[in-house]
Amino acid sequence: MKVIRVKDAQEGGKKAFELIKDGMANGAKVLGLATGSTPETLYQEMTASDLDFSDMTSVNLDEYVGLGGDDVQSYRYFMNDRLFNKKPFKETFVPNGKAEDLAAEAKHYDQIIAEHPIDIQILGIGRNGHIGFNEPGTSFSETTHEVELTESTIEANKRNFDKVEDVPTRAMSMGIGSIMPSKEIILMAFGEDKADAIKGMIEGPVTEEMPASVLQKHSNVTVIIDEAAASKLQ
Ligand code: F6R
Repeated sequence: MKVIRVKDAQEGGKKAFELIKDGMANGAKVLGLATGSTPETLYQEMTASDLDFSDMTSVNLDEYVGLGGDDVQSYRYFMNDRLFNKKPFKETFVPNGKAEDLAAEAKHYDQIIAEHPIDIQILGIGRNGHIGFNEPGTSFSETTHEVELTESTIEANKRNFDKVEDVPTRAMSMGIGSIMPSKEIILMAFGEDKADAIKGMIEGPVTEEMPASVLQKHSNVTVIIDEAAASKLQ
């Protein structure tokens, strides 16, 4: 893994944007995208740039079960609001959290990924080391699937809801088996509450108990972290 240390999230967003720009100059056509606070500065860089994304396809990592694109807390809404409404893409995919048959939706989403192999996957990381919504203990071979969110993740995500009871407890997520075939992966992490996960991911054993540690097995990963997130590294 290549580790780039930055001053703050602002600089991190700029670095990630440079990598995406280089990737697109070299022919990247499909971006795997994440939601949450981590990629916000990257999306600001993308929207402020004069780069044209109208030939690009995006495939998002996950969505809450039960929320539709009109729900302000849904990940589809977040992506439209932060990026797609300002920078039109050719096609954008987010799992359908309102699908009647979630197992069929998971299969359908894997089909989408197969038809649009991801050139550059953007990732954040949970405090417990999750990537996408692949919580500790998830098999590395899982593809898109329905997930029961952990207490720690619900707690971390409650900031976007009025009260903790409003946070959905289930999500649809790309699996590690869907993320790993991406040609290039850029994982960003900012802040002290990510320091343990970053240490486990980079220096710990590769184990399903620390989902992000699987990235040690990928040949093209760039980790962009600020000093606080890097503070527990040796
Ligand atoms: C979001 C996602 C999650 C987040 C992670 C970190 O699509 O898949 O894995 O990247 O929970 O969230 P933030 O960035 O809000 O700290």
